[in-house]
Amino acid sequence: MRLVNIRYLEEGSILARQVINPSGKVLLQAGVRLTASYLSRLQTMGYDILFIQDDRLEDVELHTAITAQTREVAYKTIENVCKFVEDGSESRLKVDDVRITVQRMITDLLSSSDVMDNLTEIQGFDDYTFHHSVNTTILALVLGIASGYSEQKLIELGMGVLMHDIGKIKISEVILNKKTPLTEAEFAEIMQHTSYGFDILHKNNDLSLLSAHVAFQHHEKWDGSGYPRRLKGSEIHEYGRLTAVADVYEALTSKRVYRNAIEPNEAYEYVISQANTHFEPRVIGVFKKHIAVYPSGSGILLSNGQRGNVVKQNPTFPNRPYVRVFYQNEETLCAPIDYNLADYPSIMIVASDNR
Ligand SMILES: [Fe+2]
Repeated sequence: MRLVNIRYLEEGSILARQVINPSGKVLLQAGVRLTASYLSRLQTMGYDILFIQDDRLEDVELHTAITAQTREVAYKTIENVCKFVEDGSESRLKVDDVRITVQRMITDLLSSSDVMDNLTEIQGFDDYTFHHSVNTTILALVLGIASGYSEQKLIELGMGVLMHDIGKIKISEVILNKKTPLTEAEFAEIMQHTSYGFDILHKNNDLSLLSAHVAFQHHEKWDGSGYPRRLKGSEIHEYGRLTAVADVYEALTSKRVYRNAIEPNEAYEYVISQANTHFEPRVIGVFKKHIAVYPSGSGILLSNGQRGNVVKQNPTFPNRPYVRVFYQNEETLCAPIDYNLADYPSIMIVASDNR
């Protein structure tokens, strides 16, 4: 199984993993042979990366953080919540479905043998609020599980994260989808989505006040430079500090209307570089241990010029996975060589290269 940028895919390649659309529906099943028309349609729809079968990487295992069914339920749940709020019926918002969905996500994550790999699903689609909410929830739950949270805390956190951007419903779509830089006034309006979200959620008696605070605080920064209240350090609830990391990393690795996704290693380095300024150092410590930079199956370029793919994650060194090299340099094929990069400190991954 290999992860390939769709630009480099030739017709005849066989899908190793089903292709799911942003609402969670299966577009193409695993095992389907890709035709030129499938490829061009997927490209038009905004897909960047697909998993294809590759005999040389048969031992690469696919891990999904949550099942396709759970993902579909999660999209439906957040879509329903949004509809309620859009209709102005937020006082009647039933959050039981949100609780059940989050419980289901937690069960999936806890039964997945290697949640570190979950980010493989986080690239590829155009900006899509539901997609962002679900992926941010997965990331936040991974960080929560790794922080030793009880099930009760995970549910509270997850419910808040799934609805953290709900206040965006009150913001004009023209501003949300603007492709050019925002004016000061427009940015001030965008910032309001945190307070709007809190207003919507905190009135709901079935929802913990701490979950509502996730919407309120997810843009606060550890050093006090965030919004809306410029809270600092422990003034920000731990759910807010944790969600801030998940939200930023997810946003950076996804496409947005105004830019393409950036490389996962760049997003990873950026997030880590903001420990102590934007983010709580403890959360960054957990992030570093539990989030894989290069998903299994992805193509990588090494500092010695060799090119290959990630075979397996290294739980103790997330940025030093097991890799298999197929190219001596950019173009020249060689006999496959396996490295556990943890044993080769002088060799580093310098870029992802999903040809
Ligand atoms: Fe937000």
